[in-house]
Amino acid sequence: MIKQSKSKYSNRLPLLLLLVLCLGLKATAQQPIKIIILAGQSNMQGHGEMEKGEKGNLKWVIENDKKGVYQHLVDENGKWSERDDVFIYTWDKFDSIKSGKLSAGYGAFDTTIGPELGFGHVIGDHYENKILLIKTSWGGKSLAVDFRPPSAVGESGYKRIPSQPKDTGYYYVQMLSTIHKVLDNLQEYVPDYQGEGYELAGFGWHQGWNDRVTKTANKYYEENLIHFIKDIRKDLGTPTLPFVIATTGMKGWEDKDPRALSLMNAQMAMTSYPEFKDNISVVDTRDFYIETEDSPSKQFYHWNRNAKSYLLIGEALGKAMIALKEQQTAYNIHQEIRNVPSYDSKFLTPTPPMGWNSWNAFEKDIDEKKIKEIADYMVSSGMRDAGYKYLVLDDAWMAPERNEKRQLVADSIKFPGGMKAVGDYIHSKGLKYGIYECRGDKTCQNLPGSFEHEQIDMDSFAEWGVDYIKLDACFARKNGRLSTEDFDVYHKAILNTGRPMVLSISDFGSGAWAWGGKNYGQLWRTSMDIYPRIQSVYRCAETSGGDGAIHPAFKGLWQFAGPDSWNDPDMLQVGNLKSTVEDKAHFSLWSILAAPIMAGNDLRTMSDEVKNILLASEVIAINQDPRAHQGFKVYDKDSLEIYNKPLSDGTTAVLMLNKGEKRSDITVQWDQIGVSGTQNIRDLWLQKDLGKFNGSFTAKNLGKHKHLLLKIGTVGSAPVAGPTPVPEEKYTVTKNGTTYLSDIYYMLKKGNAPVENKNFHGKPLKVGGKKYEKGLGVKSNSEVMYRLNGKAQRFQAVVSLDKSSPKGATGRFQVMVEEKFGGRILFDSGNIKKGKVNIDIDVSGLDFILLDFSGKKVFGNWGDAKVISE
Ligand code: GLA
Repeated sequence: MIKQSKSKYSNRLPLLLLLVLCLGLKATAQQPIKIIILAGQSNMQGHGEMEKGEKGNLKWVIENDKKGVYQHLVDENGKWSERDDVFIYTWDKFDSIKSGKLSAGYGAFDTTIGPELGFGHVIGDHYENKILLIKTSWGGKSLAVDFRPPSAVGESGYKRIPSQPKDTGYYYVQMLSTIHKVLDNLQEYVPDYQGEGYELAGFGWHQGWNDRVTKTANKYYEENLIHFIKDIRKDLGTPTLPFVIATTGMKGWEDKDPRALSLMNAQMAMTSYPEFKDNISVVDTRDFYIETEDSPSKQFYHWNRNAKSYLLIGEALGKAMIALKEQQTAYNIHQEIRNVPSYDSKFLTPTPPMGWNSWNAFEKDIDEKKIKEIADYMVSSGMRDAGYKYLVLDDAWMAPERNEKRQLVADSIKFPGGMKAVGDYIHSKGLKYGIYECRGDKTCQNLPGSFEHEQIDMDSFAEWGVDYIKLDACFARKNGRLSTEDFDVYHKAILNTGRPMVLSISDFGSGAWAWGGKNYGQLWRTSMDIYPRIQSVYRCAETSGGDGAIHPAFKGLWQFAGPDSWNDPDMLQVGNLKSTVEDKAHFSLWSILAAPIMAGNDLRTMSDEVKNILLASEVIAINQDPRAHQGFKVYDKDSLEIYNKPLSDGTTAVLMLNKGEKRSDITVQWDQIGVSGTQNIRDLWLQKDLGKFNGSFTAKNLGKHKHLLLKIGTVGSAPVAGPTPVPEEKYTVTKNGTTYLSDIYYMLKKGNAPVENKNFHGKPLKVGGKKYEKGLGVKSNSEVMYRLNGKAQRFQAVVSLDKSSPKGATGRFQVMVEEKFGGRILFDSGNIKKGKVNIDIDVSGLDFILLDFSGKKVFGNWGDAKVISE
């Protein structure tokens, strides 16, 4: 029998159309906007005269442009030309905001230019994307005081503000908040912005004079600059953000002033720091100095107000930026691109979040006393200082009924002081407060869920000082909303509160990496629940690091990970497993997979052995490496596995794991991990150098479930390249006409992997006695998600049970929108035993469909499964 749910479906047509439109928009979106920050003091503001003076103003430059390289700066009417693809947000010397198409006149005054002009043209000519320059510069500002970075701990160099030696500079904060403000309102500054997302693509710095004028500030410039670069990257959540620096060379090669030289040397020294080697470029600007007689003025600290100098500086910075980015692309260094703005402190978790969660240790059995004790232990054990900052209360903290205002309230027996008091205690310990809720009308423990109370609940959380929300998925299927719609409601409700709160998507691994979870939350589950057994640990790890949840061609989910986008194979069972060997293997796997590290044991009673595992600093450092590259598997055979995680310092972390039952040797070849020649190896558990090895390394006689976690390579060498991401056209419908689903890679699977173009046993795929070349052979229960990208109109297939199914068994074929928790059903075969069913349904505009096959140990065939695009 065929049950077509079409009529029910068509009632929702207007809503669906709207959804389709929204999804479609996202799907067909253009390239993300490239955002580049240009920052500094008056050098960056820019005093290059456009018309004033006899020589060296912009007009003069254009009139004396023998090589014809500056004619693009004026249009056919002789007016300053404007670019249609490069936009700018900045202000002038009087603090009045200026924004619009890039043109001359964005300097310190309407009549001057700064480096932005040459820079914007070089960058705009190179990239197809639209570009937005955010120029944050103020005259007379030093790095020692005004831009003083938060982590700088040395002498500030000044007696006056900031009054405390560790205070962050006022303009550092202003700079960040300006950047966030602009990012949150892109539609105002980029004409026709349609949510295509943006990439924070680079940072240009031209500053120094005001540190040069003071002896102490001058002395600390190099140190301050290192902190500045690191802090900016951290605060923007872009660990590898390309940074270009223009030196303070404004008096040319004649300048022999020791402070001028020391400042320039400090700036040029940046590229000699191993961690900066391939992500920072310094432009020596002394060549761009132009003599006073050829300039509009004698003001050397404003480059004699010469427009050409500013053009040259800008162009040189632009070229340096492009070269840096190309180098990073070659090494596959991840750049973050996202679609929606969030509150000011976006990028809440530039590296995987770390903390403790109550579920694996206590399940429902939590109370105020226990939680406070855990908070105390997180401090006294050293965990907080090792990075574990979130203390998350999982399910069952709430009373079974809401109050008369429909608000959630604490279970009054477990938490008599209420939930705000819990948060206050957690905060008083220097920790962050995490809490659990569920998108269904009930939580997984049948307590009040947040469905239809989304804003009320997020408001309560904000009021209680919550910093992290774990949002579960039980009963969400009943909501009648797709997951993307559901999460959009929460995302907006959280933004409305104005309080930055991490959103942890807990949905049993329903494909958030595929459908854009990163537009709503910062981490998402990739697996079903983890249990305190090593096989469960392996299974969960495999969803993120292997083909447990996605097509094998992707080699795991690494290409979907990065700052604020973490694949979460669930919380730790370290301390709950059978042995130290297993606990360590678990911790190393989570470390190499850049997984969120949420301890799940009773910290109050843990042994020193377990504590030492959780505190293993060199293992944690791999997880928290600022390059934010998720490790990926490079070898998997006979229960022996090797993973590789390229690091920010030019080395790579390698995990060699024996999942099997018998002792074995494992050998890693250098070409598997992107290094060559003779390399240093360090054992990260022993914290010991093992020596130098050439070409390969063998872990000898590795026991059952044992592993080695190593760091291989030379600190400061060129970054180890990551693998090449699978290009979109391989996993999306892109072409007109027919696309067989088995010809593109699925983005999510649950249950057994489907077999492409064969039945589940690898034999010819037959439906109703007829053989099909294309299609999928599946075993119940099986879910497979494909990305249509809004490109297809019809889905067609012919389905039946496979002949190998047990006698009398029934199976059910369903086609759904997106995935099961939001699963709107497009087609439902009902339970079938015999015969075949033809499917031909409308999928217009849908981004994702899910092919679901259910039954009891039964086999099914999706013959000829294809979509048609016009
Ligand atoms: C689900 C989640 C678990 C836990 C429980 C609480 O199973 O996946 O991590 O939060 O609910 O009920």
